[in-house]
Amino acid sequence: MPSLTILILAAGLGTRMKSKQAKVLHRAGGKSLVEHVVDSALELTAPDHVCVVVGHQAEKVQEVLASRGVRFVRQTEQQGTGHAVLCCEESATDKTGRVIVLYGDVPLLSVATLRRLLEMHDKSGAAAVAITTIVDDPYGYGRIVRNQAGDVTGIVEHKAATDEQRRIREINAGIYSFDAPLLWRHLHDIGTANPAGEYYLTDMVEILNANGHRVAPLVVEDPSELLGINTRVELALIDKIMRDRAVREHMLAGVTIERPETVTIDAGVRIGQDTVIEPFARLLGTTVIGGNCHVGACSILENARLDDGATVLAFTMVADSHLATGARVGPYSRLRMNAEIESGAVIGNFVELKKTRMGKGAKAQHLAYLGDSTIGAKANIGAGTITCNYDGRRKHETHIGAGAFIGSNSTLVAPIEIGDGSYVGAGSVLTDAVPEDALALGRARQTVKAGWAKAKREEK
Ligand code: UD1
Ligand code: CA
Repeated sequence: MPSLTILILAAGLGTRMKSKQAKVLHRAGGKSLVEHVVDSALELTAPDHVCVVVGHQAEKVQEVLASRGVRFVRQTEQQGTGHAVLCCEESATDKTGRVIVLYGDVPLLSVATLRRLLEMHDKSGAAAVAITTIVDDPYGYGRIVRNQAGDVTGIVEHKAATDEQRRIREINAGIYSFDAPLLWRHLHDIGTANPAGEYYLTDMVEILNANGHRVAPLVVEDPSELLGINTRVELALIDKIMRDRAVREHMLAGVTIERPETVTIDAGVRIGQDTVIEPFARLLGTTVIGGNCHVGACSILENARLDDGATVLAFTMVADSHLATGARVGPYSRLRMNAEIESGAVIGNFVELKKTRMGKGAKAQHLAYLGDSTIGAKANIGAGTITCNYDGRRKHETHIGAGAFIGSNSTLVAPIEIGDGSYVGAGSVLTDAVPEDALALGRARQTVKAGWAKAKREEK
């Protein structure tokens, strides 16, 4: 295998996005556009052989890609695609083998197509291969000019094309595989004699031809793969294509997805067999769902972990939290910041858990806030229970023992400990520890005045 360097052009702002944010940072399918392209590149070559040309919001683009270990090159002034490649000359230390050029704003291009590009390069014996496709409306694109043998002899940019050339419907996708030594040898031959006064990478085609080399086309049947993003309308379209693909892959792998067109699943999400996902669910980030789980309608799971057989009922939010086997959460629950729901535990409607561990079989069925807490196995948390974990300056912990019973509408002022098997009377406000197996009451004693109301009514 010859070595492979991949250059990703991502310096442009993308004026038509009407955004302060660089185009390649916009997100589709749960990742920024440039992450999709870099991740595809990394399936074909090592990180030190991937070079990303950055310009607009360079720091932010580099930050987003930092974990990938790829190289970066700054292009402070966008003087054209040829200039962008020139900027990589120093950074691309391996000048043997092949160089593939990709765009940071063409995120649907598949690894399979890039493999075909390399195969075509091998088979054809050409100095370069350009990906082309045939479209109904070629307006704005570079047109492919071929010779009798079918090789590409030139790419004419729309602005520079004659009327006859503008009728050519085969367009340049902007993605190429070059013979590396030839690319680097002739790159400096590119000039700026064109209507835009830019360095056009497409000029390499004529330059290679003039030096006795061949450029072969790889015609891609499905132009949607080559879709570049220029506007937010196209961004939404690509997001939809990616979402549809992800959902389809999960269904083919054994996940039941109801009304799949309404479900959003990010690229990093994993789901086990026979899990059922109801309409309008959003499964985001690094969420991992086991087999035989149930995710209710309109629920949002972000970086959530569900073990086999866990259930999330409708309208529930689970962020950075874990449900063990047989745990049940929802409808209308909210878990966040490392909530841990052990097996058989139940969290019901309008219950919020933050940094809280719910022991095996413990229940909080309605209307409660449990923050910075541990709840023992089989404890029962009554409706309206609030852990007062914040004193205005610091957070404090609440520990509720196994089998404890917290009566409805209890206010537990943290830090506080409620012992195993103890009982808290409804409506209590507790500030002090409750020992094991005790009854705690923290409320005013009820007074009854017989006949008082009647007397009041009859008063004159
Ligand atoms: C380019 C091709 C055209 C092709 C089209 C396909 C050239 C001269 N033309 O045109 O034949 O049909 O792509 O979409 O190559 N970029 C940089 N630095 C620059 C210039 C561009 O990083 O100095 C990046 C852009 O951010 C973008 C990509 O390269 O991601 C393509 O640049 P763009 O200006 O959109 O090229 P087109 O005019 O569309
Ligand atoms: Ca473009």
